Amino acid sequence: MFLLYLSYAILWISSTIPVANAAAGKSIFILAGQSNMSGRGGVVNDTWDNYIPPESYPNLAILRLSADLNWQLATEPLHRDIDTTKVCGIGPGMAFASSLLGKDSSIGVVGLVPCAVGGTNISQWARGGELYKLLIRRAEAALEGGGTIRGLLWFQGESDTVNREDAESYKTKLQNFYLHVRADLLLPVLPVIQVALASGEGPYVEMVREAQLGMDLVNIRTVDAKGLRLEPDGLHLTTLSQVSLGHMLTNAFLQSQPSSLTSSASRLRMSQKFATHLFSGLFTNLLCLI
Ligand SMILES: *[C@@H]1O[C@H](CO)[C@@H](O)[C@H](O)[C@H]1NC(C)=O
Ligand SMILES: *[C@@H]1O[C@H](CO)[C@@H](O)[C@H](O)[C@H]1NC(C)=O
Ligand SMILES: *[C@@H]1O[C@H](CO)[C@@H](O)[C@H](O)[C@H]1NC(C)=O
Repeated sequence: MFLLYLSYAILWISSTIPVANAAAGKSIFILAGQSNMSGRGGVVNDTWDNYIPPESYPNLAILRLSADLNWQLATEPLHRDIDTTKVCGIGPGMAFASSLLGKDSSIGVVGLVPCAVGGTNISQWARGGELYKLLIRRAEAALEGGGTIRGLLWFQGESDTVNREDAESYKTKLQNFYLHVRADLLLPVLPVIQVALASGEGPYVEMVREAQLGMDLVNIRTVDAKGLRLEPDGLHLTTLSQVSLGHMLTNAFLQSQPSSLTSSASRLRMSQKFATHLFSGLFTNLLCLI
């Protein structure tokens, strides 16, 4: 009987560890933009092939903020309840989180906040608009359980390559978007990792790309989508390209970090917290038995 309770207690503890840990040191990332950030890898003829690459497997240390603002174990498709009018597939988010965990042991639990919506243009992301408000609301909700917003991952601009005026005003609008997000989240130097377009829906790709590459703000890193492969639709990155993109985003993010002098100190804190949660959980469960 006791053994039964004990194994129950251990099960209970292991199921609460990610959440307890998460509250302590979660590294939160906002994912925004259009379809390639949302993820269409493996989607052909409006059907996702259900193939999940190993780099995008679920991991107890990767959570996602659901549309109803709850932290849950992150699984693909990451944007399924956010980008709801299209069929979602594999995006870069899970591969980004996995490779980040593999490369920086001080990162703790990764909390992903999916916000991307397919087909959206930069005007729709302007401060005051629905997408913008939702992004800020979700980012603030993400912070409620503790943690730090460590970065914004942004992949957008294809929709702004169709009209010359849209492409010409892209730089100002994008710059304002970054500045407003930073101001409204009270994170004036929030790292932004953006993706430079390789191609787009219209003829003004170079103009949008130049705007992205010429962004003159601090703490902006750019990875280049050139060379990544597209699905047979010629529109969206394939699953394997999304995995590559995830790794590129990780490398760019880690470059944007100041050298991590405190990482061993925070690792120590993390393991102390972990031990505290473990023993207080065990203690509570044993008390219930008496
Ligand atoms: C997708 O649709 C096209 C045109 O209907 C068809 O030729 C193709 O075989 C389909 N591909 C798959 C993977 O179902
Ligand atoms: C952006 O998208 C919205 C919604 O589809 C559309 O109404 C608008 O005309 C587009 N372009 C600009 C520059 O706002
Ligand atoms: C997805 O990204 C690729 C690479 O930049 C680009 O060629 C493609 O147009 C994008 N698709 C959409 C729908 O934005």
